[in-house]
Amino acid sequence: MAMASSSGGAGALVLAFVTVAVLLSPALSAPLDGAGFHSATCPQLESIVLSSVQAALQREVALAARLLRIFFHDCFPQGCDASVYLKGSGTEQAMGPNTTLQPRALQLVEDIRAKVHAACGATVSCADISALATRDAVVLSGGPNYTVPQGQFDSLAPASQNAVNALPSPATSSVSALARAFSAKGLRDLADLVALSGAHTVGRTGCPFFRDRAQRMDDAFSRRLAANCSAAPTRLQNLDVVTPDLFDNGYYKALVNSQGVFTSDMALIKDRTTAPIVRQFAQSKDAFFAQFAKSMAKLATAPRPGGNVGEIRRSCFSPNARRAIDTVVDAGEEEGFAASA
Ligand SMILES: *[C@@H]1O[C@H](CO)[C@@H](O)[C@H](O)[C@H]1NC(C)=O
Ligand SMILES: *[C@@H]1O[C@H](CO)[C@@H](O)[C@H](O)[C@H]1NC(C)=O
Ligand SMILES: *[C@@H]1O[C@H](CO)[C@@H](O)[C@H](O)[C@H]1NC(C)=O
Repeated sequence: MAMASSSGGAGALVLAFVTVAVLLSPALSAPLDGAGFHSATCPQLESIVLSSVQAALQREVALAARLLRIFFHDCFPQGCDASVYLKGSGTEQAMGPNTTLQPRALQLVEDIRAKVHAACGATVSCADISALATRDAVVLSGGPNYTVPQGQFDSLAPASQNAVNALPSPATSSVSALARAFSAKGLRDLADLVALSGAHTVGRTGCPFFRDRAQRMDDAFSRRLAANCSAAPTRLQNLDVVTPDLFDNGYYKALVNSQGVFTSDMALIKDRTTAPIVRQFAQSKDAFFAQFAKSMAKLATAPRPGGNVGEIRRSCFSPNARRAIDTVVDAGEEEGFAASA
């Protein structure tokens, strides 16, 4: 590229590439589309994602919950834009709730992206792949299928600390506080709050995240939680103590028996506005599945304050502009840029 070869030192080279990258890769923007969005440009997409998730779950069944958690953490702060996948200082992974984002699950989505881009070119965003992989993990664990809106662009930057702080804490004890947090993201029905909490049907967590409940030791279950944690402080606790690996309504059956692990889980059965929904889901798996599918579709279109603006990342872990610079600096060649153009 003429610009690069005519520029002087390394500093100038980097600057030149920043300019070119910005000129040639403007932020894209588009309305969301239905499930067939990629069918012309990447007909293999769904089968690549499904077979990859299937193989991964066979190795590690807990990845389903990890993907769900990552998806929630991605969508809640500023919409489903794969911002949570960005690595480095100042990213969401370096902020408070990071400990629950599992590296192997993040890597799984990046591995699928590499396969998809190898087959179809860089036509599918990390955000779309993350949504599809999460959906397939739910189905493969026994849960309902649902339509995943496609055509989300990947963010150019991580969400702000303020946006990430909007994620509800597992120690939240009041349904009204949880409901306010969900409402702000377009999840306005109490049934959304109760159904999405049902993702805990395949979840696990570390002792520090339910210390507030365990330390109260105000019922037999919290005493057992406390005893297990003091015997093995690094153990992982199943969030659904009825059927931990199966995506079903066991979580709600446990709640009806006061066997919710998080304070925010117990809040759902203690509050008189949400308790009837919990009981309904405990009685009917179909009712839970129908609402979960509806609520996941809503979560998948959670508001993006700046609109659906961004890019199709060439690595889920870094924005294309930074990747281009890193590659140029590493290789001292212009190949890096060519690969990301
Ligand atoms: C998460 O971030 C906190 C600081 O906010 C840090 O102390 C901790 O080591 C991080 N955890 C992981 C797993 O990166
Ligand atoms: C879910 O349904 C879609 C059609 O809406 C289908 O393409 C996909 O294969 C289904 N997923 C699974 C894992 O069965
Ligand atoms: C506590 O640990 C025992 C032994 O591993 C296990 O059977 C039990 O289910 C655990 N209790 C809870 C509440 O998970």
